Amino acid sequence: MTNTKRIVLSSDHAAIDLRQAVAKHIAAQGWDVVDIGPTTPESTHYPLHGKAAAERVASGDCTLGIILCGTGQGIMMAANKVKGIRCGVCSDMFSARMIRQHNDANMLSLGARVVGEGLAMDIVDAFLNAEFEGGRHATRVDMIEA
Ligand code: RB5
Repeated sequence: MTNTKRIVLSSDHAAIDLRQAVAKHIAAQGWDVVDIGPTTPESTHYPLHGKAAAERVASGDCTLGIILCGTGQGIMMAANKVKGIRCGVCSDMFSARMIRQHNDANMLSLGARVVGEGLAMDIVDAFLNAEFEGGRHATRVDMIEA
């Protein structure tokens, strides 16, 4: 049976600490966390890490993904290049809830230089606890995919 609570995490060097804090936070909620790094602080390239995480979601290996870089923007752009990925950067809880409810986002991106750890955890919770509403929103998501 597919584990519907399997989630991939990835970041660049700018967000290692926040990524590891997110991993701990969501593992405590019963998520099977696949943290694909990196673990060392050398400067790296966010497109590599966004793509790697996105491919885990697109392939069905993970149901959701959370990716992080300094702003959350670059790694989000890279992830959205992978077919089937709908990833949004969120710095507030309302947006994090809405990208699940209306856009059926399967990945969340966070900016470690934008949000503090406490807010980041609330954003993560808002994202993970929301569900896609379907209906007219499904028509629009289908249009994105097309
Ligand atoms: C790295 O310095 C920084 O450019 C990266 O983490 C991210 O903010 C890019 O969008």
